[in-house]
Amino acid sequence: MATPVDQLDIPYIDFMAVASREERERQFAAAREQSWIARTDMGGYSILHYGDCVALLRDRRWHQAFARMSEMLGIDPDATQRRPSILTAEGDEHARLRRLVAPAFTPKAADRLRPYMREVINRLVDPFADSGRCEFVADVCEPYPIPIICTLLGAPEEDWKLFSRWATDLLSIFDGDVLEKLPAIQAAQEEMSAYVHELVERRRSKPADDLLTDLIAAEEGGDRLDSEDLESLAVAVLVAGTDTTRNQLACTVALFTRHPEQWKLLADRPELAVRATEESMRVLGAIRGTSRFATEDIEYKGVLFPRDTFISTSFVAANNDETVFPEPETFDITREGAASPHLTFGSGIHYCLGAWLARAELQEALPILAQRMPDLEVDGEIGWKPESTGIWGPAHLPLRFTPAR
Ligand code: HEM
Repeated sequence: MATPVDQLDIPYIDFMAVASREERERQFAAAREQSWIARTDMGGYSILHYGDCVALLRDRRWHQAFARMSEMLGIDPDATQRRPSILTAEGDEHARLRRLVAPAFTPKAADRLRPYMREVINRLVDPFADSGRCEFVADVCEPYPIPIICTLLGAPEEDWKLFSRWATDLLSIFDGDVLEKLPAIQAAQEEMSAYVHELVERRRSKPADDLLTDLIAAEEGGDRLDSEDLESLAVAVLVAGTDTTRNQLACTVALFTRHPEQWKLLADRPELAVRATEESMRVLGAIRGTSRFATEDIEYKGVLFPRDTFISTSFVAANNDETVFPEPETFDITREGAASPHLTFGSGIHYCLGAWLARAELQEALPILAQRMPDLEVDGEIGWKPESTGIWGPAHLPLRFTPAR
């Protein structure tokens, strides 16, 4: 007989009461020592061990909590989008989209953009390189992903500002005052859909070497993406691929400021960029976890999760699981021998579609930054976003360095 989850004697994690990130990490570590699951003050349960996070994320009876966001906020679900996008679709609908789009998001597709990524990062560093000072979030992280996503989709340079504005408006869905911002979110969605609609029409008559052309051509067993699928996917890519990359780059560089010897090592051995990216995403990931709800009564490890139970798989806890990552507290960009990958890109059917693109963006940016910004130090204090922020990282990252000759 499975024990109902609300009757388990398990640790309690009080998010609201904890002031600092370090304190919360200690709270999670202590809970993880005692149990694979903890109760939280957010009305659900936190999953703390790597294997359990992966098992639950791969179990299709748990659905993306994001899909319930409109309902939880009291918004008509039709008001924010027409069809569920890849981010919120489940079951056959999700599987169909994923099958059709996945072949366009391969490592090879991401590699096409690597020279351009190097060009963009160098262009962003140039204006402050000689001064030895910058505000890294505003100067580099904020602008970095937009031209890359525009180029990926095949939008011309003169339209970048439009994408930047849409990204800001669409991303305000994660803000506390979403109801107030709803008209701007809807307007951005409509404008971007209309824009992509036109772009798709142009690509249909004149194919190019870009993602939209690949997606238009994508076909599986006679099935193809229609215009609405393509529009919704482009919006999903902008929403999911902008702030994640920005915050991960800022988290990674903030982490390196605490490990100057590793920053120097990366400058000397740029081939370590691949491992440095994975290790920094493990140690300080911009996505701290993800949430799911039970679509039916689910039994797991002798525990009964009644339908509608919410869980959050803690990537922070899982990425520090010493059964997978020996000496997890050590940041080591030469690390080898982890039994499995970090969970910052998720797991299961919703595993990050843009993982190869995001990896390439970080792998290209990091060695250039390490070489052009030696002796990196925080110039004042890092201002961190509240830990409750879905996509988390530094809001301000003032830096100083020795200008490279
Ligand atoms: C370092 C940067 C990034 C991080 C940390 C990240 C992380 C994640 C995570 C954790 C998920 C799964 C969410 C869940 O299971 O609830 C996800 C999904 C997704 N990501 Fe990323 N992401 C990043 C960059 C990107 C980029 C650049 C793109 C653009 C192509 C992208 C597109 C997507 C999409 C479309 C999904 C939904 C996939 C699905 O539901 O099937 N991401 N990402």
